[in-house]
Amino acid sequence: MKTLKTSLSKKDVLSIGDLSAREINLILTFASKLKREQKNGKARLLLRGKTLGMLFQKPSTRTRVSFEVGMYQLGGDAVYLGASEIQLSRGETIEDTARTLSLYLDCVTARVYDHKDVQTLADWASIPVINGLSDAFHPCQILADLLTLQEHKKKLKGLRLAWLGDGDNVCNDLLLGCAKMGISMTAACPKGYEPIEKVVRLAKAEGEKTGADIAITDDPVAAAKDTDVVMTDTFVSIGKEGERATRETIFLPKYQVNSGIMKLAKKEAIFMHCLPAKRGMEVTPEVIDGKSSMVWQEAENRLHVQKALLCLLMKAV
Ligand code: CP
Ligand code: NVA
Repeated sequence: MKTLKTSLSKKDVLSIGDLSAREINLILTFASKLKREQKNGKARLLLRGKTLGMLFQKPSTRTRVSFEVGMYQLGGDAVYLGASEIQLSRGETIEDTARTLSLYLDCVTARVYDHKDVQTLADWASIPVINGLSDAFHPCQILADLLTLQEHKKKLKGLRLAWLGDGDNVCNDLLLGCAKMGISMTAACPKGYEPIEKVVRLAKAEGEKTGADIAITDDPVAAAKDTDVVMTDTFVSIGKEGERATRETIFLPKYQVNSGIMKLAKKEAIFMHCLPAKRGMEVTPEVIDGKSSMVWQEAENRLHVQKALLCLLMKAV
């Protein structure tokens, strides 16, 4: 019975689309418990003897450290696999890499450029695969964001969220997460930088079931009005550095989160950003370093939600 209630329906988590609302709630509840216990100095060695592989094609601070530390705190181990240091860099296929890693590891997290790569890894691995960010999705970030929102607003359903800027990997999964949890979300993105169309369609369909309004616009002022939370992300995601000059011209100043934008939101509205941030670009220093900013709590929550996810995927609870 316990296994039934705590098991996730899919082997892998490549997007928030792989989780139901019930599963998201399960992860958030378990993450809160682990967070409380960690703060009270109670060790939970639920993953003793288990090893997580961490395959990274791109740089990372939060994802890499929080996964590694999370495994240690749960009594397990983590192996960092920089893509340039393993045989992948010499042409070994992802399929063969997946089969090999499955022989030694209990779970893998992978940060890749092309989402197809993490999908192939998951298809060929017999162990669970967690997307640690691809060009299309960033599920662990959204789980941390939802936990942060829940901690602040004491609820998720009925909240209103504005996204400003690039309709990127974080925005795609956020649309799905909000829709599933009953949070209305408007993403204000410049033309040509909107989230993936199919994801928007999926989010709208989910939103119809939960009462969440999902909308895409190019008007940040309309999006920010009367919202509970304003979120943004870098204008230049990893891999898009060549587009920096064009992007900055298109995004600035219209899509920057500044105190003018925050004034449009509710008085008690919070600001969130997955980090890393570029002050003076997508957000001004007075907002990200101001009282309404939750970015550090958001970053900390990566650790707690991922610990919960690891335990659930490795069936340790
Ligand atoms: N938010 C996030 O994923 O940060 P890193 O790129 O540092 O992992
Ligand atoms: N959209 C950003 C998120 C970084 C955590 C990127 O892909 O670089």
